[in-house]
Amino acid sequence: MSAGGPRSGFAGPATATKPSHDYPRIVVPPPGPRAREVVERDARFASSCYIKEYPLVVARGRGAMVEDVDGNRFLDFMAGIAVAATGHSHPRVVAAIQAAAADFLHICGSDFHYPALADLCERLARVAPGPSPKRTFVTNSGTEAVEGAIKLARRATGRTDIIAFKGAFHGRTYGAMSLTCSKVKQRAGFGPFLPGIHHVPYGYCYRCDYGKTYPECALHCVRTLEEDLFSRELSPNDVAAIFVEPVQGEGGYVLPPPDWLPALRALCDRHGILLVADEIQSGIGRTGRMFAVEHSGVEPDILLTAKGLGSGMPIGAIIATEEATRWESGAHGSTFGGNPVCCAAALATLDLVEEGLADNAARMGERLLNGVRALQDDFAVIGDVRGLGLMVGVEFVRDRETRAPAPEIVSALERAAFDRGLLILGCGRSSLRLAPPLVVDEEDVNTGLGILRQCLGEVA
Ligand SMILES: Cc1ncc(COP(=O)(O)O)c(C=O)c1O
Repeated sequence: MSAGGPRSGFAGPATATKPSHDYPRIVVPPPGPRAREVVERDARFASSCYIKEYPLVVARGRGAMVEDVDGNRFLDFMAGIAVAATGHSHPRVVAAIQAAAADFLHICGSDFHYPALADLCERLARVAPGPSPKRTFVTNSGTEAVEGAIKLARRATGRTDIIAFKGAFHGRTYGAMSLTCSKVKQRAGFGPFLPGIHHVPYGYCYRCDYGKTYPECALHCVRTLEEDLFSRELSPNDVAAIFVEPVQGEGGYVLPPPDWLPALRALCDRHGILLVADEIQSGIGRTGRMFAVEHSGVEPDILLTAKGLGSGMPIGAIIATEEATRWESGAHGSTFGGNPVCCAAALATLDLVEEGLADNAARMGERLLNGVRALQDDFAVIGDVRGLGLMVGVEFVRDRETRAPAPEIVSALERAAFDRGLLILGCGRSSLRLAPPLVVDEEDVNTGLGILRQCLGEVA
């Protein structure tokens, strides 16, 4: 028996990403005895700010399967919050990490050179959408990418203010938290925040802040920035950047209408404002393209990525056009950013995503979306279904007429799915996010949908 718990038929060596389709398999109602022991120690010693959605205590994972310390197997439809892009412990990612670790662990990429960092900077600069030449800065996390982008946008434009969106989540450090406007508990008691941040409504058509309907609204939410905000309150000449998630993540897996991002791009161009696409959650193949902005043909001035980039290793990036990269040597840096082991994981991840995982995400995403739409036909508590690739949002309501949010259904579903061996996660006020690893196949999607149907039957 290993330290992490019994292997219980787990396909030992990391030669295959998919051991078998015999999961999910609940052998002891979770949390079992080993899991409870860990949960209890966390409750006693881990800082009180941790969320811990449900008592999942992981021993190992392969592909879309996660096994807990008591030998229960779960189908993962949340990928460690949209991180395990290539599945859990993909053998090629693991091999790249092991080889890099055996060579050297650290030298500091901000101050010295090594091939893996040069390779990753070049690779991301080339893969980022749009014709403009790009440059890359590598970070340890999403929030660090956002911080760097705030600094770069201010430095490059000489302007101070930033526009971000209601429902946005950009991270937990001060600049990123100042841009965040998702759940009040993420900000409560932490002020004052960065000055000069303006939150405006997102292209969230199911719950339009202006009570309008798309497309009759003619993108009122974008037009009003010029017609109202820029004419009464804020000079566009003071605005350095608009930070936008092409698909809102934490805010509810919200997909704006197709012409919304192009309209924002045009508005930025009219006023010399930088468009910063936060693709920390939506990037690296998740939506069926390397980056979500590709679906609308928009080239951001700055693109941020993290989460899926390292398949679980901590790494993020700021990819900016040559034109926007106006900061001099020493203006920014990071001790660990671009660590060689993380770079190796990212390069292996990008290979896998380009070799087929993005296409698989598009195919499986469509299957998943259709499956969830079929559930919507049968369950009135599903108010809205939306998605791009394997980034599928399901919004729950008390009734379809009033669209009153039903967060209690989301929490009950999370728990019911966990008890049956499916890992899912809520987001927004009242939504579920379905974000499996990009390696899922048809059987995984069918299995996940089957469990969701059972749970809905019980909970709704
Ligand atoms: C869109 C987006 N931006 C930024 C972040 C922050 O990333 P990190 O948790 O790596 O700091 C997240 C994390 O969920 C995110 O979804």
